[in-house]
Amino acid sequence: NPTVGLIGWRGMVGSVLLQRMAEEGDFDRLNPVFFSTSAAGQPGPAVEGLQGDAGILQDAFDIETLAKLPVILTTQGGGYTSEVYPKLRAAGWDGIWIDAASTLRMEDSSIIVLDPVNRNVIDAGLAAGVKDFVGGNCTVSCMLMGLGGLFKAGLVEWGTAMTYQAASGGGARHMRELLTQFGDLHGVVTNELADPASAILEIDRKVTAAQRDGSLDASQFGVPLAGSLIPWIDADLGNGMSKEEKKAGDETNKILGHSAAQRVPFDSLCVRIGTLRSHSQALTLKLTRDVPLDEIEQIIASDNEWVSVVPNTKEASMAGLTPIAASGAMTIPVGRLRKMEMGPEYLSAFTVGDQLLWGAAEPVRRMLAIATG
Ligand code: HSE
Repeated sequence: NPTVGLIGWRGMVGSVLLQRMAEEGDFDRLNPVFFSTSAAGQPGPAVEGLQGDAGILQDAFDIETLAKLPVILTTQGGGYTSEVYPKLRAAGWDGIWIDAASTLRMEDSSIIVLDPVNRNVIDAGLAAGVKDFVGGNCTVSCMLMGLGGLFKAGLVEWGTAMTYQAASGGGARHMRELLTQFGDLHGVVTNELADPASAILEIDRKVTAAQRDGSLDASQFGVPLAGSLIPWIDADLGNGMSKEEKKAGDETNKILGHSAAQRVPFDSLCVRIGTLRSHSQALTLKLTRDVPLDEIEQIIASDNEWVSVVPNTKEASMAGLTPIAASGAMTIPVGRLRKMEMGPEYLSAFTVGDQLLWGAAEPVRRMLAIATG
C-alpha cells in the first residue's frame, strides 16, 4: 500500500477528511503516517476504518522524516504550508504535495484540484510532472461542482456570484462564536418572547442594543454576526476588492485550465451570513447564446453525479436549496434557474454546498486517491 503523510487531521477540515476516507474505504489501500505540530511521540489517533493502530505521531516540522514520504496531504493551514513546504522542496523532496490551504494555489507550478470538473487538467499535470495539487477556495469549488457543465460547454461569457458564506469558512471557533451570539441575543429578550403581548419594537430595540454595545463576544469575526451579516471576507486588497472576491475569478479560470486569452470574467461580492457550514451563492451568468432552459438544466444535471437540479418552484426551493438541506451531504443542489429580464442570454441561478465537503476535504481526498491509484 502507498504510504501517505497526513498533517492537520485533527482540525475541522482534517476531521471531515478522515471521516470521508473511512466512508470510502481509503484506508484499505493506503498506509497513513500521522504527523502532529504539537504532540509528536504520542500515540496516533483512533481512526475509523484503519486496520491496526495509527502508530506514533511524527513531528510535522521534521523535514527529514517528511522527505521520506512519496505523498503528503495537509489540511493544517496556510501558515504550516508557508513554513514547511519550501524547506521540504529545498531539501530535494520531489514527492506529491496535496494541500487544502490557499498558499500555493495560484503558483504556476500547482494545479487546483476538483477532478469532477478538471480531471483533464489534473491528468495532464501529472503526466507533465506537476507535484503540487491544491484544493480550491470553498465557494469556487462548490460553484463549479454545481455549474461546471455550463462553463465546460463554453456557454459562459461572464458571470457574477453574490455569496452567502457560512461561519465554518472562518473556522471552528467562528462557528462557536456565532452560536454563542445567537444564545446571548435570545437571552436579552427571553421574557419578552415568552409573552405574546410584548411589544416587538421593544424586542428589536433590546437586541439591536446588545449587538451594538460590545457585550457580544465577536473576537473571531471582529463584529457580531448573529442577526446581522458581514459584507467582507478575507483580506482587503486595497482596490475595493476582498481577497475572497479575487479568488472567484482567478481560481475559476485556473481550475478550468483557461489561458489568459480564454479567461472568462467571473466576479463576486462575498458576504458572511449566520449559517453554520454550507455556502450559498446567487449567480448571474451571461451566456454566449440563447440556450433553452430545459437544455440548460440538462447540461447542468449531466455534468457530474453530485449536482442535482432543483425545480424552480417555491416549494422545491424551500425544501431542497438551503444550507440546511445541503449540510453534511455530497449533493450540490442548483436551482432558481430562469432567464432574466435583461434578455434570453442572462441566466439566474442559486446553488448551495457543504463547504467542508466539496468546499474543502473532498477534492483533496479524491486527489490523494488519484495520486496513489
Ligand atoms: N475563505 C473561505 C471562507 C473558506 O472564509 O468562507 C473556504 O475556503
